[in-house]
Amino acid sequence: MAKEKLDIEKLPGVGAATAEKLLSAGYSDLLSIAVASPGELIDVTGLTETAARKIITAAREMLDMGFESGLDVLEKRESVIKLKTPSENLNRLLGGGFETGAITEVFGPYGSGKTQIGHVLAVAVQKQLPGSYAVFIDTENTFRPERIRQIAEAFGLDPDDVLSHVKVARAYNSDHQMLLAEKVEDLIKNEKIDVKLVVVDSLTAHFRAEFIGRGTLAERQQKLNKHMHTLARTADVYNLCVYVTNQVMAKPDVFFGDPTEAIGGNIVAHNSTFRIYLRRGKKDTRVAKLVDSPNLPDGEAIFRITEEGISDV
Ligand code: GTP
Ligand code: MG
Repeated sequence: MAKEKLDIEKLPGVGAATAEKLLSAGYSDLLSIAVASPGELIDVTGLTETAARKIITAAREMLDMGFESGLDVLEKRESVIKLKTPSENLNRLLGGGFETGAITEVFGPYGSGKTQIGHVLAVAVQKQLPGSYAVFIDTENTFRPERIRQIAEAFGLDPDDVLSHVKVARAYNSDHQMLLAEKVEDLIKNEKIDVKLVVVDSLTAHFRAEFIGRGTLAERQQKLNKHMHTLARTADVYNLCVYVTNQVMAKPDVFFGDPTEAIGGNIVAHNSTFRIYLRRGKKDTRVAKLVDSPNLPDGEAIFRITEEGISDV
């Protein structure tokens, strides 16, 4: 840690206090700062926009930013697996399914189906990659083994076998949640468990409950950022799918359009590769809207939550 701190302190306008804030938010090297957006740095340090931009530019200049060829990137892309749900509409919206090597965030109001999708994915990953494991980091006590069994049966899998391949951990607070995310790597490396899916349901509930009021926002965002960096790194290094859920809150000052916004601001939005807004549709349907993706058109998919999990309408 000491050397990293020295590196970061070389950046213009970064003193000991700012370096400390950056480090505890997971910006542990120059690269992580070089690729950050000004909004993220502002969130975690309280710096001005000008100062944040200056730091990012300086980090880029100090780094040899290392290019790889388009072919190398293509090769990496070819190892990406797309986890398929029983809803073709939802899969299509995501360009074939929920991608490994990426974080997919689903945000939406109460009862929109975020947790249900997490359960479906925990089964789907085992159908598609036999012998693989799902990790479920449960912050609100919403994991239901009965539901997994039900969905497994509909997938034509042995329910108890499927359940034995789901590793569940209840996270009691945000620090515990962060620790559990770090432990996924131990499961893979030390226990030789082939984890291909990590569900964090909900990503933001503890953070939201623990950090109340303006004064604590920067600290909250620092921790959330660190947590998301852990998840992103694990997704990348182990080519696994990370699925996180997020709630929405009312925007007090909006008179036109959608009066809600996702929790977590810039930090969660920027760190998620795919973002889906989920809401209730007509009758018992659900509408998923892709709002952010690196390579896919924005669009909508309609599906239904059923006994068997989810299905097309
Ligand atoms: P919050 O966590 O409260 O923000 O909501 P959420 O978005 O996680 O919602 P969740 O995934 O828990 O969806 C709950 C909805 O799924 C319920 O309103 C039910 O309509 C539906 N649902 C859950 N289980 C079943 C089931 O076994 N059969 C059917 N048909 N629907 C179910
Ligand atoms: Mg839920």
